[in-house]
Amino acid sequence: MAENHEELKCECREAYEDIDRKAEEHSGDPSALIEVLHYAQERLGYVPRDVQVRIAEKLGVSLSDVYGVLTFYSFFRERPRGKYTISSCQGTACYVRGAPEVLARFEKELGIKAGDSTPDGLFSLEVVRCLGACGLAPVVTVNKDTYGRVTEDKVPAILNLYRQNAASEDIPAGS
Ligand code: FES
Repeated sequence: MAENHEELKCECREAYEDIDRKAEEHSGDPSALIEVLHYAQERLGYVPRDVQVRIAEKLGVSLSDVYGVLTFYSFFRERPRGKYTISSCQGTACYVRGAPEVLARFEKELGIKAGDSTPDGLFSLEVVRCLGACGLAPVVTVNKDTYGRVTEDKVPAILNLYRQNAASEDIPAGS
């Protein structure tokens, strides 16, 4: 698959070559799957489908095995991180105060599952365990902003705020 490297941007091509090398080191060893996926994500920031295919081939596992691992661990992502990362705390204090409903509403509004990013590149959604603000449970952060006592009804307004921010940043200065 090395021929595909030619179409990639320079730094990406290097990353792909390194990932191929790493997978090659573990050729035929399915037990190295998580390690190699970790490495790929470290290098690219996410694990795109073509990299999943390369890793599956090298390690001798099925693509569905790779996909299973990627979706099981919320750490892994299949798309690049969005402009805004939404972290929904599912630690115990948040969980018992309605965090699952809040997360479900984010997933519904964004049309993605936790661990994924929206196709427009605006939002990434992830699950975290305790943000150290349990007194404000349930807690959500969006990049560096913290929202406490979030209910599912507040989710659309939170998203709109960042959509508007993004839209206003797109307007050229002085117009
Ligand atoms: S459990 Fe959510 S902030 Fe601690």
